Amino acid sequence: MKILVTGSNGLVGSHFVENYQSSKNIVILSPSQDELDITNLKSVKDFFKMHDPDTVIHFAAFTDVSKAEEQRNNKNAPCWIVNVEGTTNLIRSLNPDTFFIAISTDVIFSGSKENPGPYSEDETPEENPDLLSWYGWTKREAERQIINNIKNFAILRISNPVRSNYELKSDYVRKILTLYDSGKLYPMFNDQYLTLTYINEVTETLEVMLHKRPIGIFHASSSNLFTPHKLANLLIERARGKKDVVKPVSIEPFLKDNQSRYPQFGGLKVEQTEKKLGMKFRSWEEIIEDLATQLSA
Ligand SMILES: NC(=O)c1ccc[n+]([C@@H]2O[C@H](COP(=O)([O-])OP(=O)(O)OC[C@H]3O[C@@H](n4cnc5c(N)ncnc54)[C@H](OP(=O)(O)O)[C@@H]3O)[C@@H](O)[C@H]2O)c1
Repeated sequence: MKILVTGSNGLVGSHFVENYQSSKNIVILSPSQDELDITNLKSVKDFFKMHDPDTVIHFAAFTDVSKAEEQRNNKNAPCWIVNVEGTTNLIRSLNPDTFFIAISTDVIFSGSKENPGPYSEDETPEENPDLLSWYGWTKREAERQIINNIKNFAILRISNPVRSNYELKSDYVRKILTLYDSGKLYPMFNDQYLTLTYINEVTETLEVMLHKRPIGIFHASSSNLFTPHKLANLLIERARGKKDVVKPVSIEPFLKDNQSRYPQFGGLKVEQTEKKLGMKFRSWEEIIEDLATQLSA
């Protein structure tokens, strides 16, 4: 097996390349962006011609949600070009037998009161771009390109991915702890519902997928929903020994001006994935317990 991994320096992809237990007959190609820029079709085609991977795991993306919002509706700006055109360039370069796994997100769903989550693997993603962040809409479009153009594909959606040991980018729990440690932690939403993805479990899910090569849409996330307020309180209690220090606040006033930016009822369901792949995902409390011991001061 020859596996091409895009985005192997990122928060999620780097965990996979560092931890995937490859055997003798598995080669992992993990080019940097300089070696393989997915926005350049010719360079992608040349790379595939030279290396001929039989499996691709596509983590690479433009992931800065705030910057993406400044690019809303601009198809000449990086978020669209990387997430949609970059994915299309990979699709156009694949050999038809290649197994293509793409990492996607829960924010292809609105998380609104009218169509609340958590969402199952077979639910239809949001069709109205005005109800999604621009980042969410570009990932939704990337999914559409994959589903419409490849037979041998799997999409693995994740939500709020966390891990303990990655210094280049703060994940959801590290942001909360950093704010708490510097005395700047603001009140957290107590009426927003999301799921958490343990990046260790993304790597485990990908290992199973590489073995079983299933087709379709899969989710990797906590088996239950958290509110940011509850999660922050448990995290600080376990990692810093302080109980009930986080103040609650409602998300409602924030939604008035930013309906598309904040899913109130988001998150992913994992039952179908657990059944198809023979896996069991942790609860968010178990993920926090695991991380808190590693992030203790
Ligand atoms: N983080 C989240 O909250 C979250 C939530 C749900 C889903 N996801 C999805 O999970 C996947 C991984 O996210 P992440 O948080 O690990 O991302 P990340 O830390 O921002 O890393 C993104 C990776 O993509 C690479 N990349 C960007 N533009 C590229 C280009 N033109 N050509 C080749 N590579 C390029 C980057 O390369 P450089 O290192 O050279 O910049 C980096 O390795 C993405 O598909 C993302 O949409 C993330």
